[in-house]
Amino acid sequence: MQTHHRIIIDNAARMADIDDQSIDLVVTSPPYPMIQMWDALFCMLNPAIAEDLAEDRADGAFEHMHGQLDRVWTELGRVVKPGGVVCINIGDATRTIASLFRLFANHARIITAFHALGFTQVPTILWRKATNAPNKFMGSGMLPPGAYVTLEHEYILIFRKGGKRLFSTAEEKNLRNASAFFWEERNQWFSDVWFNLIGTPQTLHNGNGKSRERSAAFPFDLPYRLINMFSVKGDTVLDPFVGTATTMLAAMSAGRHSIGYDLDPAFQEIALQKIAGIPELANRVIERRLQAHADFIADRLQAGKEVRNFNRRYNVPVVTRQEEMLYLEPVRQIQFIGNDRFKVIHESEAAIQPASFICPPEPDPPRTRSVSKSRQLKLF
Ligand SMILES: C[S@@+](CC[C@H](N)C(=O)[O-])C[C@H]1O[C@@H](n2cnc3c(N)ncnc32)[C@H](O)[C@@H]1O
Repeated sequence: MQTHHRIIIDNAARMADIDDQSIDLVVTSPPYPMIQMWDALFCMLNPAIAEDLAEDRADGAFEHMHGQLDRVWTELGRVVKPGGVVCINIGDATRTIASLFRLFANHARIITAFHALGFTQVPTILWRKATNAPNKFMGSGMLPPGAYVTLEHEYILIFRKGGKRLFSTAEEKNLRNASAFFWEERNQWFSDVWFNLIGTPQTLHNGNGKSRERSAAFPFDLPYRLINMFSVKGDTVLDPFVGTATTMLAAMSAGRHSIGYDLDPAFQEIALQKIAGIPELANRVIERRLQAHADFIADRLQAGKEVRNFNRRYNVPVVTRQEEMLYLEPVRQIQFIGNDRFKVIHESEAAIQPASFICPPEPDPPRTRSVSKSRQLKLF
């Protein structure tokens, strides 16, 4: 299996290279309106914002900044397939303008924009961020009533275009079954509060050590989970604000095609460095998931609970029949086609090597069976 990926340095307000209704999933994080680090970019996109800020017109600046994001959301309305999903990571902002401290509810403004475009909102995830200063005072310290709560979470807003996606042909159903996730992953991923997301291990370099801060990259786990939750293998994932290409790395690791747009060419070098390391990254992620599953099954058996089903690809016990065909695509090779297109060659299922925690394949595992504890402890 091969997947194809492309980075386009351009304004995502007009994604001329993307056909109508060709995208299955969008995972993105835009620049956050009213957060100072993005002022210069918004002012460059619309000089009226610089005037709003200079003249303390807080509502005008907020609305004009969202006007720039609205142009990208409108494009998503065009390029997303019916039944496709859009996931937007966004934080609210707090800021003092004309001596007035207040909240700018970016998440609420984006929900309004997506409703106006005809998307359907489904339940939101709160990402509880690890913070270095959990007790940071905002406002009047210990004296009421002028103290403010600290923002320690961001939102992952989720929208669907039209009705539920259908899987009609045998091929579509097979891909969907192979894209299953483990039962215990489902329990964690489909919770509406996420903690402790894991980032990419590479350090970013831009000479002054500030690139991660400047890029506002989200942790790898964030797009990786969303891609596994809301798309199937062979789908195309778009990130219109791709930055350092975290969404693309996650798509490559999950066997999806991807396209990323970004206005700022400065991130391309960082993105290329990270993409070059994709075979190691993807295979480490797969190993982590399989090992976590092995640990989960060992604990479950230790607790005296039965495990009745078997995954046929790894010959490992699983909780439900839906996990029987689950297969995680290792990455064998990455090919650069210029600086903006990439081909990822994935390991075929036939070539999977039994890992230490996977037992040798059995001739024909029965559909439903209980696994005796002694046999399991040998496996893990
Ligand atoms: C919050 S960062 C995204 C970071 C990214 N998720 C990552 O992990 O590196 C937002 C990105 O959007 C880009 N950007 C802002 N406005 C844009 C536009 N209209 N079109 C394309 N990219 C844009 C910025 O250059 C920045 O890289």
